[in-house]
Amino acid sequence: MAKKITVIGAGHVGEVCAQRLAEQELCEEVVLIDIVEGIPQGKGLDQWQSAPVEGFDTRVSGSNGYGPAEGSDLFIVTAGIARKPGMSRDDLLRTNAGIVRSVGREIARVAPEAVVIVVSNPLDVMAGVMKEATGFPRERVVGMAGVLDTARFRAFIAMELDVSVQDIQALVLGGHGDTMVPLASYASVSGIPLTQLMEPDRLQAVVQRTRDGGAEIVAHLKTGSAYYAPSAAAVQMAAAIVRNQRRILPAAAYLEGEYGQEGIYLGVPCKLGAGGILEIVQVDLTEGEQAALAKSADHVRATKAALAED
Ligand code: NAI
Ligand code: 2OP
Repeated sequence: MAKKITVIGAGHVGEVCAQRLAEQELCEEVVLIDIVEGIPQGKGLDQWQSAPVEGFDTRVSGSNGYGPAEGSDLFIVTAGIARKPGMSRDDLLRTNAGIVRSVGREIARVAPEAVVIVVSNPLDVMAGVMKEATGFPRERVVGMAGVLDTARFRAFIAMELDVSVQDIQALVLGGHGDTMVPLASYASVSGIPLTQLMEPDRLQAVVQRTRDGGAEIVAHLKTGSAYYAPSAAAVQMAAAIVRNQRRILPAAAYLEGEYGQEGIYLGVPCKLGAGGILEIVQVDLTEGEQAALAKSADHVRATKAALAED
């Protein structure tokens, strides 16, 4: 069992991450950090008081400073602002870049050997900001988006076909945004290719709803964005890493030539285990999928360039 996992940002995503980490006993101690006085302390204590009822022994505590995070094995970074109706993930760029940069410097100071899972948006560019701020190798800074986008794809396929989500395999690659690439060619139900089970127009509708999955939740909530599925996705990645599960999950990785891209973070299949990314798995793509991935990479590159112009 890992000794300590620290969640930065005790807002919607962060607080549910902390509770899930504790309930799954992924580590001995969960630390929740936020800049707002009292919030991480109160939420941490409240969660720890649920331990006798839920039956977990993982201690949860909160702090405004990084002292308690010292020596953490893993960080999940959710600090930043979330989008509201009418805002795209890219609208969060400048504010969140400043926050992620300052968080990254603190992480490198108190836990230079840690693995970092970035959640803050715009995800692919924020993962790059974190890598730069910590100075960590690419294996130890990974972005969460693909597991969430794939979960949405699987959930919508299950609804469309009226089958269990458990039998559905799927893969969504690319940047976390409108240009994400749900791969119909890798989607199946108990091994049966999805293309044999769904008419092309229905499949296209499911793909589009997946792309709009985050916006659909924002439109309902009005005051913020999704957090139950995002926290579940981040914690699944954390489990793969701290339990050295060597799971192949879609995640944002810093590419150095893989998929014809370099110098940016982009969602690709990654083998996750002890130490973070063990391998970037290269899969064959159709011509259309390759073109869509290249377009998505261009969008990430443009967002990164917009930040650099400041
Ligand atoms: P939220 O607003 O509920 O929580 C953000 C928290 O960060 C707040 O409590 C705030 O006080 C804290 N914070 C701000 N600056 C900080 C700093 N310097 N240090 C520590 N804490 C700081 O937002 P929510 O819903 O939790 O979302 C968090 C971020 O995650 C947003 O940027 C959102 O867009 C992103 N997100 C990304 C997803 C993905 O798939 N990658 C999915 C869902 C959310
Ligand atoms: C989502 O996809 C806002 O990125 C967040 O729900």
